Amino acid sequence: MGFSDVESLDYHWLLSRIEKQRVLRAVSVQGVMEHALQHRERVGVQDFVLLEDFRSEAAFIDNLRKRFNENLIYTYIGNVLISVNPYKNLPIYTEEKTKLYYKKAFFEAPPHVFAIADNAYRSLVYEHREQCILISGESGSGKTEASKKVLEYIAARTNHLRNVETVKDKLLQSNPLLEAFGNAKTHRNDNSSRFGKYMDIQFNYEGAPEGGHILNYLLEKSRVVSQMSGERNFHIFYQLLAGADQDLQRHLRLQGRPEVYKYTTDVGPMNQKMNDAQQFRIVQEAMKVIEIGEAEQRDMFEIVASVLHLGNVKFVQNDKGYAEILNHDANSGNVADLLRVDAIKLRESLTSRTIEARGDVVNTPLDIEQAQYARDALAKAIYEKHFSWLVARLNSSLAPKEKDNWSSVIGILDIYGFEIFPKNSFEQFCINYCNEKLQQLFIQLTLKQEQEEYLREGIEWEPVEYFNNIVICDLIEARHRGIIAILDDECLRPGDATDASFLEKLTQHLDGHKHYKSHRKMDIRTQKTMGRDEFCLVHYAGEVTYNVSTFLEKNNDLLFRDIQSLMASSGNAIVGSCFKDLNLTSKKRPETAITQFKNSLNELIKILSSKEPSYIRCIKPNDFKQPMQFDDKLVSHQVKYLGLMENLRVRRAGFAYRRTYDAFLERYKCLSSETWPNYQGPARMGVQKLVEVLNYDREDYRLGNTKIFIRFPKTLFETEDAYQIKKNDIATIIQSRWRGYWQRKQYLKMRAAAIVIQKWVRRFLAQRLRDRRRKAADVIRSFIKGFITRNGPETPENRRFLGIAKVHWLKRLSTRLPTKVLDLTWPPCPATCQEASRELHRLHRAHLSRKYRLALSPQDKKQFELKVLAEKMFKGKKNSYPSSIAERFLEDRLTSEHQVLRNTFMASPSWPTGEQLIYSCEAVKYDRRGYKPRERALLASDRALYVLDAAARKTYKLKHRLPLDKLRVVVTNETDSLVLIKIPQELKKDKGDLIISVTHLIEALTIVTDYSKKPDIIEIVDTRTIAHNLVNGKQGGTIEVTKGTQPAIQRAKSGNLLVVATP
Ligand SMILES: Nc1ncnc2c1ncn2[C@@H]1O[C@H](COP(=O)(O)OP(=O)(O)OP(=O)(O)O)[C@@H](O)[C@H]1O
Ligand SMILES: [Mg+2]
Repeated sequence: MGFSDVESLDYHWLLSRIEKQRVLRAVSVQGVMEHALQHRERVGVQDFVLLEDFRSEAAFIDNLRKRFNENLIYTYIGNVLISVNPYKNLPIYTEEKTKLYYKKAFFEAPPHVFAIADNAYRSLVYEHREQCILISGESGSGKTEASKKVLEYIAARTNHLRNVETVKDKLLQSNPLLEAFGNAKTHRNDNSSRFGKYMDIQFNYEGAPEGGHILNYLLEKSRVVSQMSGERNFHIFYQLLAGADQDLQRHLRLQGRPEVYKYTTDVGPMNQKMNDAQQFRIVQEAMKVIEIGEAEQRDMFEIVASVLHLGNVKFVQNDKGYAEILNHDANSGNVADLLRVDAIKLRESLTSRTIEARGDVVNTPLDIEQAQYARDALAKAIYEKHFSWLVARLNSSLAPKEKDNWSSVIGILDIYGFEIFPKNSFEQFCINYCNEKLQQLFIQLTLKQEQEEYLREGIEWEPVEYFNNIVICDLIEARHRGIIAILDDECLRPGDATDASFLEKLTQHLDGHKHYKSHRKMDIRTQKTMGRDEFCLVHYAGEVTYNVSTFLEKNNDLLFRDIQSLMASSGNAIVGSCFKDLNLTSKKRPETAITQFKNSLNELIKILSSKEPSYIRCIKPNDFKQPMQFDDKLVSHQVKYLGLMENLRVRRAGFAYRRTYDAFLERYKCLSSETWPNYQGPARMGVQKLVEVLNYDREDYRLGNTKIFIRFPKTLFETEDAYQIKKNDIATIIQSRWRGYWQRKQYLKMRAAAIVIQKWVRRFLAQRLRDRRRKAADVIRSFIKGFITRNGPETPENRRFLGIAKVHWLKRLSTRLPTKVLDLTWPPCPATCQEASRELHRLHRAHLSRKYRLALSPQDKKQFELKVLAEKMFKGKKNSYPSSIAERFLEDRLTSEHQVLRNTFMASPSWPTGEQLIYSCEAVKYDRRGYKPRERALLASDRALYVLDAAARKTYKLKHRLPLDKLRVVVTNETDSLVLIKIPQELKKDKGDLIISVTHLIEALTIVTDYSKKPDIIEIVDTRTIAHNLVNGKQGGTIEVTKGTQPAIQRAKSGNLLVVATP
C-alpha cells in the first residue's frame, strides 16, 4: 500500500471503524488496516482540506511536521502547494518521477511541484487558459528552487516536441546569469535572490516553448555598497575575482582578492572561492547560450570591476573642509578608464554638485560624507541599471524569433514573501506591500474561482467568511491619503522634509485606521519596545513595525545630475545607453522609488489577474539551513504570514472535497454492486447510487453538474475506508482476472505457436501429398501408356505395367485354376504371358493328372491301364472302340448261375492248378459248317483260353483249351461282336478256326492282351470278307461284313456267315 493511499485515512474514525469491522472481517484484512493506520499516523494527510480540525494551527503544523519527517515535503491545500525546504537532495526529481506526473490529476499522485507544473501546462495547452504560478515564501524557503523545478519539468515535458532545444536552453541558462548578478549570500540563504522575478514562458499552438520574457522587481541595490556582517555582495563580484583569467584581470585592473575591495570585504570561507571560480565558468557558458557576445561580456565585466574600484575611491578633506580625491588616486582613474569617461570630470562630479536655482547654475562642493554618498549612489545606480539592462538583454535573446499570434504563456512569479525583521525599513515596507497585493489577488482569484466553480456546477453559493485585506492595500496605496501618497508628498514638497516629518504626517492622517498603529496610540507595554521613529502596520499576516529612517532618501533615490550626465557620456556601451535613457533635460522630478514600484506592481497584478493562478507556498523549516530540523515556532510564524490558515479556511468554507463524477466513481465504484465492475449509465447517476449505498447525510454533500462536493473530510474518510476494506476483495478479483488474462495471453501465444507448427506440418503434408499425387499421376500415366502398349514388346515404358499385369494375372490365375482333370478351360492371360500360360497350363494339367493318378484305387488304375491298352489296340482301328470307352471293363461277365458253373469247372481237374482266371464271359459259337449258333462260356486264364459248352446249363463242358501263346485272333474294323480265333494246327484237338460272338469284344481282348502281353496276336481287318479255316488249315467258309442298322450274325443265303455291323 503506497503512502498516498494511506494518507487519505482518518485516524480516529478508523479506530472505531476497525473495531466494528473486527467482528466482520478476517484477521488478514485487519492486518492491512492496521498497517494503513500506522502509516497514516506517521505521514499525515496529503491535502490539508482533509484535516478534520482545520481551524487548529497546531494540527496544521503537526501535519506538516509528520510529513517533513518522512521526507514528504509537499502538501496541498486544495490546489495550493505547500513546500517545505528539505535542505537536502531528495530523489523526487528524477526522470522517472517526472514521468509519474505526466497528465495526472492532483489526487492521482503524491503532491509535488511537478503536479502544479503539469496541471498548468495542460490547462494551457488543452484548454487554452493562460497560467501563472505564484511562488512565495521567506528568504531561503525554496522559491527559486521551486521555480527552477517548474522550468525543468516543462523542459522535460516538452522534450518530444521539435525545435525547442535552443529556446529551452536559453530559458534554463537565464537562471545562472540572473543569479550571478541578482543573488547573494545572506544569513538566511546562501543563494538568496535579491530581486523579484516574474518570468513568462511563451508556448506555441503545439505546446512547445518558443520564448520567454522576464520582469524584475526591486533589486536590493543597497547590497552593492554595504552588507551585514557575514553576508556577501552579489555573487558576480566574487565570481569575477576568482574566475577571470589573467588577461581579463589585467584588463580590468583587478587584483583577484575580494578583501582588497571595500564593497567585498566579507569574503566567506576558502572553498567558497573555488566555487566562485567554477560558477564564473558557468556564467560564461550561460552568456554564450544567451548569445551575449565577447564585446558585450567585456562591457559587463568592466562595469562590475568599475563598481569594485569605485568603492575604493578615497576622499580626503581639503583645507576648506570639502572632500577631494587625490590626483594620484588610482581607483578613480581605473573607474574612468573602465567606464571610458573623463577622469577629471569623474573626480569633480564625485566631489561637487551643480545646482540650478532660479536660472543660476551654482557649483557646490561636497563634504566627505556627501561625497561618499554620491560615490555609493553612483555604484548602486550603475549596478542597478546594469542589472536592468541584463534583464532587457535576456529578454531580447528569449524573444520568439517570429511573431506568433497563437502563442500563450505560463508566468512564474518568484518573489519575496512577507518579511518581518527586528528592524524593518523601506525595503520591507515595499516587500510587504507587494505581498498584501498578492494576497488580495489570491483572495479575489480563489474566491472568484470558487464562486465560478459553484456557478458552473449549479450549486448554491454559500458566502465564505474571510478577511479581505483590501483595507490594508487601501491604507498603503490609496490616492492622496495612503502611505505611499503621503511619502511621495513628503519627498516632493519643497522645504525641509525629513523622515520624522513624514512619520508625523502619517500619524496625523492615519491614526484612526484599524491597521495603522502609531507610537503615540500604543499601550504602554508596546511603547517600550517601539521606537518613536517607528510605525506599525497590521498586515493580514501580522503586525510589522517599520522604522522611518532613510525612507525619504530611499524613496527619492537621487543621483546627482553631474554624475548622471557624465555616465551618459560613457564609452562603455551599456553604461552609456542606461544613463542616456534618463531625460536629463527634463526638469520634472523622476518618479519616486515607491511610485515606480507601485506602478510596476499594479502592472504585474494586471498580468496575473488575466491568468489562471497556481500557488506554491514555500516554508523554511529552520534558520540553520539544516536538513531534518523542523522548528515549530519558525514554521508557525511562516504559516501565519503566508496566510495559510486563512487560505485553508476559505477553501474549507464550502466543501472540503470535490471530485469529478468520473474520478469519484472510478475510485469508489466497487462499493456498490450496482456500480461494480462497470457502471453503464452516466457517471452522475453512478455517484448518486454510490451516495445512497454509502448513506451520506443530505447536508454532507451536493451533486453539481460535473462534480460531487463533500462537506466534511470525515464523510470522505468513511468512504475511503470502506474502499480500503473492499480493496482486498477487489484485489482478489483483479488478481484472478489478471491471472485469467495472463493465462489467456499465454494460451493465445501457444495457440499462435501451434498454428504456426500446424501450418508448417500442413504445408509439409500437402507437399508430400502433392508429390505423391504427382507420382501417382506419373504412375497412372505410365500405366496408361503401359496399357496401350501392353501387347507390344517390353519397353521401359510398359515394363512396370507388364510386371504388374503379370502379378495380377498370376494372382487371378491362382484363384481360378481348373480343379478337375477333365476341365480343359484355362483363364486368359496377358499377351506377354502366353508362353508362361501355356507352360503353366501344361504343368497344371500334369499336376492334376498326377494328383488324379495318385488318388486312383488299384482297380481304377487297372481299369485305366486297360483302357489305355484298348486305345492303343483299337483306337482308329475298330469302329466300335469309341463306344467301349465309356463302359467300365469287367473281368467277369457271367451271370450268377454261370458263375457257379464256372467255379465248379475251375475246381475240376480240367483247370490246371496255378492258373489264374482273368476273364469270363458268355459267348456264342458259330459252327464252321452251317454257322449254327451255340451257347458257350469263355474263360481266359493267364495261359489259355477256355471255350466251354454251357448249353446244358448244369455243368461246363470243356470244348477247347487254347494256350494263349499259340492263338491268333482276327476281328473286323466295324462295330460288331465277331471274333475269329485262329487255332494253329499243332493243337491236336483243332477243328479249325473258331467263330465266336462276344458282346464285350474290346473289353475281352484288352484284358487278355494285358495279361498275355501279346497284342500282335490280334489282327484287325477292314475287308468285307474274311476267310476262316476249317480243320487242319483247310480253307473253310467266308465271313461277309456288311453294315446295317440291326446288328446280327447269321448264315446268309450265300452260305457265308453274314455279319451286320452297325454304323
Ligand atoms: N526542493 C529542494 N530540495 C533540496 N534543497 C532545496 C530545495 N529547495 C530549496 N533548497 C535549498 O535551499 C536553498 C534556498 O533555496 P532558494 O534559493 O530557492 O530559496 P528562496 O526562497 O529563493 O530564497 P530567497 O528569497 O532568498 O531567494 C537552496 O539553495 C537549496 O540549497
Ligand atoms: Mg530565491
